[in-house]
Amino acid sequence: MDKIVVRGGASLHGSVEISGMKNAALPIIYACVLVEDKCIIENVPDVRDVALSLNILREMGATVNRIDKTTVEIDCTNVRCGTSKAELVQKIRASYYLLGSEFGRFGRAYVAYPGGCDFGGRPIDQHIKGFELLGGTVKADCEHVEIESDHGPCGTSIFFDIVTVGATINVMLAAAMAEGTTIIENAAREPHIVDLANFLNTCGARISGAGTDVIKIKGVDSLHGCTYAIIPDMIEAGTYMIAAAATGGCIHLTNVIPKHLECISSKIEETGAVVDEYDDSVVVTGKPSIRKANVKTHPYPGFPTDMQPQMAVLLCLANGVSYVSEGVYEKRFRYVEELIKMGASIKVNGRTAVIEGGKPLHGADVVAVDLRAGVAMIIAALCAEGTTEISQIHLIERGYDDVVGKLRSMGADIEKVSYPD
Ligand code: EPZ
Repeated sequence: MDKIVVRGGASLHGSVEISGMKNAALPIIYACVLVEDKCIIENVPDVRDVALSLNILREMGATVNRIDKTTVEIDCTNVRCGTSKAELVQKIRASYYLLGSEFGRFGRAYVAYPGGCDFGGRPIDQHIKGFELLGGTVKADCEHVEIESDHGPCGTSIFFDIVTVGATINVMLAAAMAEGTTIIENAAREPHIVDLANFLNTCGARISGAGTDVIKIKGVDSLHGCTYAIIPDMIEAGTYMIAAAATGGCIHLTNVIPKHLECISSKIEETGAVVDEYDDSVVVTGKPSIRKANVKTHPYPGFPTDMQPQMAVLLCLANGVSYVSEGVYEKRFRYVEELIKMGASIKVNGRTAVIEGGKPLHGADVVAVDLRAGVAMIIAALCAEGTTEISQIHLIERGYDDVVGKLRSMGADIEKVSYPD
């Protein structure tokens, strides 16, 4: 079994290059199913969820070649509909983008029900609403989701009941080659929605409004191959920014888009750290004293739910009581029990965590309960007295490219250790 072992106490200094965004790379990889041609995708993060998604496409008949560590060539000309392997699809959430891309290309879809982190209920009712309004007949049970249609998706208008990243992406994929125009209202506005729209437009799609809450998609007859570079990962960047603030260090993050980080930067500065912005980099300088703050997670441009556990760790080190409210998921506080093992004083009441800051953290044996919780445990371990061992680290590797190497390069006493099972 692999673990990450951290000896706390060092503050982070130096520079780190941010990788491509996992949650932009995944929809773009599955969007290649729409394209009967060769696509070259650059700045792809080397993480487990990407590797798994590329394998899912290979098993469906795609040709996938890694040109180098961050460049992938994908040709889905020979992909066969409904042939994804359930045991792979069920490992991650993003595999459900096959529904939109299969429906968009073949007029039908057949995909095992997706997996993903356990944040309570993660229904897909808005995805189904979108597919049905596009003319699909959807059958969904706990094992599979199937879409049938007489003649493929037809342009329509969809008003989502809630803001949902996944359903916005899935409808964009299904509508890109629909007959007619599709309007999505109450659409998610995340940067990776914009990145997907830009990729599809580079392939010949006609999508406008991505990044706003109204997206218009004029269906085209076909899409052609292209070369496209993924945007930098705002959540990876935010994670290292918080690590700098928490350890009282000073780090220079390169390959970022400061605009995407605005809410994160603002909240980190509220706790006393300083964030200096440049064209494609930021410098974060932590201070010896950390101020309390209150956080409510919200779809973009609000404070990202995927930064919630990392922010909670920073607030454990702050002076005073802070409140963290989770506005996206039913339950995303499973990591609190692990932080309490390290001496944190946190009480969870429904979707709100009350954090009594200022309690010193000490090393412990803890578990990464999900991807972002796992990296939050690393930040806590960097600030703890003594040694911390973190298990289930494959969950961290789902979304962080070389987290140990990047932190070591900034002065952290951290290593990955393999233990016999
Ligand atoms: C994506 O998940 C991300 N995953 C998540 O990141 C991220 O937390 C989330 O967007 C919000 O930003 C990927 O991109 C692979 P949603 P997704 O559709 O698509 C409700 C990470 O750590 N909902 O916005 O599941 C439901 O409660 C991961 O990288 C419905 O009720 O996000 C759902 O949980 C974790 N009905 C919540 O909205 C629906 O039909 C958010 O869903 C759809 C969603």
